[in-house]
Amino acid sequence: MTVGVLGLGAMGTPMAWNLHDAGLLGAVHNRTRSKTDPFVAAGVPASETSAGLARRVDVSLLMVTDDDALTDVLDGPDGVLHGVDDGHIVINASTVSIEATKRAASAVDAAGSRFVDAPVSGTVGPAEAGTLTVLAAGADDDLNAVEPVLNAVGDPVVRCGAVGDGTRTKLFVNLLLGNLLQGYAEALVFGRKQGLSFEFMQDILERSPMHADLLDYKGSALEDRDFTKQFPVDLLLKDLNLITEAAQEAGVYLPQTAATREAVGGASAQGHGDEDMIAVIKLLEAVADVTVEPEASADES
Ligand SMILES: NC(=O)c1ccc[n+]([C@@H]2O[C@H](COP(=O)([O-])OP(=O)(O)OC[C@H]3O[C@@H](n4cnc5c(N)ncnc54)[C@H](OP(=O)(O)O)[C@@H]3O)[C@@H](O)[C@H]2O)c1
Repeated sequence: MTVGVLGLGAMGTPMAWNLHDAGLLGAVHNRTRSKTDPFVAAGVPASETSAGLARRVDVSLLMVTDDDALTDVLDGPDGVLHGVDDGHIVINASTVSIEATKRAASAVDAAGSRFVDAPVSGTVGPAEAGTLTVLAAGADDDLNAVEPVLNAVGDPVVRCGAVGDGTRTKLFVNLLLGNLLQGYAEALVFGRKQGLSFEFMQDILERSPMHADLLDYKGSALEDRDFTKQFPVDLLLKDLNLITEAAQEAGVYLPQTAATREAVGGASAQGHGDEDMIAVIKLLEAVADVTVEPEASADES
């Protein structure tokens, strides 16, 4: 089996390298051609178009930004659908809306191919380590067929149900992610303004029932005031928009998530959209006139 990766961004690139290491990578394609150069140097062919990629391989794995990007790479004039045949399987790992997932699955089905809905939880580090949580959904036969592919990029690979259920699970997880992150940022700014040190607050959180790995990762980033994007503010905002739309559609009341979406949108509007999601703290810090950083750094500045 050969796999083609379409979308060599922050996530698609390490996923493609893991597929290469597993001996499965047959081709790559990216809108911005230069991102394929390291793969070409390693002997992996780069296809000019999405359709060309699909023609070269048995499985196309799509890792692009959003609904519009998925539509472009799938249905566009040189899209994947123009290159698939009966045996082909399309895996979508991008986080998109439930509607876009259903539309993509129908289009792939109409083209005579098969579709697997497999968004991932985890960021760049787990993508590099091959330890993403893969939220795989689709027909059992299709999931069985692509098992080696999913195992090469993730651990665990969780079977969530039928097509659409992977995306539903991803939105469920990111609803909590957004609210947890925003709550963490607000707690730190509140505590700092009350005179609590960053080190003390991290220590208390580590020993409290509210401890979560996310607080460690983002605490380490804040310790260095390093806002290099892993999962950027604008992608979190995209997901909060998807969640809000899906909730409205289903008649679910999400007051907390609506507030988080406003806060994350505010951080984006303030110019932090391309920074890591923990940059949501910057807007809170600006209003409170305080910086959440280790004592030593504060002493130096
Ligand atoms: N970053 C994370 O921590 C993380 C974690 C889990 C899930 N995700 C999800 O995974 C997906 C990818 O995230 P990422 O962080 O890898 O994003 P990224 O670094 O911004 O990469 C986005 C990729 O999509 C391509 N793309 C965007 N619009 C396109 C279009 N209209 N036509 C063709 N290609 C297009 C980009 O091509 P160019 O290079 O030409 O711009 C790039 O290859 C998103 O849905 C995101 O929500 C991200």
